[in-house]
Amino acid sequence: MATKESQAGKLVRGLASKLKAPVKPAIAAADRATPIADARKAGREITKAMLENAAKDNLFLHFTNHAQFPKGKIPIIVKAEGHHFWDIDGNKYFDGISSLFSVNIGHGRERLAEAAAKQMKQLDYFPIWSHAHPTSIELSERILSYAPKNLTRVFFTTGGGEANETAWKLAKQYFKLMGKPTKHKVISRAVAYHGTSHGALSMTGIPAMKKQFEPLVPSTFRVPNTNWYRAPEEFETEEAFTNWAADRLEEMILFEDPDTVAAFIFEPVQNSGGCFTAPNSYFKKIREICDKYDVLLIADETIDGFGRTGAMFASERYEIEPDMLVCAKGLTSAYAPLGALLLAEKLFEPFKKGALFPHGYTYGGHPVSCAVALENLNVFDEEDLVGNVRRNEGAFKETLEKLRDLPIVGDVRGVGYFWAIELVKNKQTKETFNDKEADRLLRGILSHRMFEEGLYCRSDDRGDPVVQLAPPLTIGPDQFTEIEQILRGCLIEAHREM
Ligand SMILES: Cc1ncc(COP(=O)(O)O)c(C=O)c1O
Repeated sequence: MATKESQAGKLVRGLASKLKAPVKPAIAAADRATPIADARKAGREITKAMLENAAKDNLFLHFTNHAQFPKGKIPIIVKAEGHHFWDIDGNKYFDGISSLFSVNIGHGRERLAEAAAKQMKQLDYFPIWSHAHPTSIELSERILSYAPKNLTRVFFTTGGGEANETAWKLAKQYFKLMGKPTKHKVISRAVAYHGTSHGALSMTGIPAMKKQFEPLVPSTFRVPNTNWYRAPEEFETEEAFTNWAADRLEEMILFEDPDTVAAFIFEPVQNSGGCFTAPNSYFKKIREICDKYDVLLIADETIDGFGRTGAMFASERYEIEPDMLVCAKGLTSAYAPLGALLLAEKLFEPFKKGALFPHGYTYGGHPVSCAVALENLNVFDEEDLVGNVRRNEGAFKETLEKLRDLPIVGDVRGVGYFWAIELVKNKQTKETFNDKEADRLLRGILSHRMFEEGLYCRSDDRGDPVVQLAPPLTIGPDQFTEIEQILRGCLIEAHREM
């Protein structure tokens, strides 16, 4: 006897037949124009116009005002070699900023490509979640061999921002495990940039970059940086000024209650605002303050690391012993994405005993990136790139200092192969440009003029307007003169036009 079908059975049968019916997507993939794919399939040439149009139609570029591009004019970079790169029209540029403070060994090193290919053939990928692979193991040992000796562990990420994010999360969990659960706040410095994820951006000291994304992660606080050029006149020496700046850290810890403060993050040489250095006494003092209140000291060496400041780590140059050190960029010279957080053994202790750090990234410590990093470090050692920076930094400084004779140049500052030229409206009073003027000066005039003259460097007004230089560590005095000559012409013109 046939049984009567239940209501639920009917519903299930109806759904099943619906699921079998072909689903029409809202926009069929076939409706989209794919001129590049079509040309590839047909074996036709991929033209410049195709790339320019597709770039405009499909890409959302980072930190980019898309309204600036007239039709089809997004610059397309097609090749690079040494300290030069070329655009799609065949124009050659001097890479005065190592692309993004990153390509420290210079472009086009075949041996890094070979190291990547070899690793891909051996072990393309495996996560470092409860497993390890030889390149991540070897690289952790190698990085630590250059680091301050109190740092004994490496947590790999894919970049600097992730490593900063990791540092804060680790600090919070560490204090919870140590029975100090209220220690969670982070203090950072004015105008410093630490990345774009919610945590890293919260620690960033640039309000204009943050307001679109607020509310951010609460519990971060700013103290003064070490901008000596803009120091109040009452300070007679840089040491007196930076001593005062360090005191503000102690004051902030006390304002916020030491029982709630987990960490202080800083760059030994701060990039954003334009290469703010400090005397060793400043770093000694912030270390003492952090020790006094059980606050972890985090050195963000995303840019400073790997030779940029004339030492493998700026912490070495300035005799800093941070509890955590963040690095990225120069670690692979940007041939592959990789970042790392180095930490003191005391921070690892509770995890050694069984606590779990529930944190990680799919591509953190990717075996191919680690292989590339190892080969990159071989280049550093074989070519003594840090020695090259140390031998030439005086000549670089001297050459750039020549620009001080220009009325628009207020300051030239930096260290190693990491320099900023601050531009001012009035040299005597140090009056700076207002936001609108700075925008016109940097983006309206200077960036274009320098690019036209074949020099790629950074024009930045996250603090007061600066032009920044961070060339590959391979260059020497001839190239310093080339940079100075191009800059001189562009700055004279920019001054005339303002
Ligand atoms: C000092 C500093 N920290 C963090 C970051 C963020 O690094 P990433 O872009 O690799 O996340 C940067 C990037 O330029 C940086 O300069």
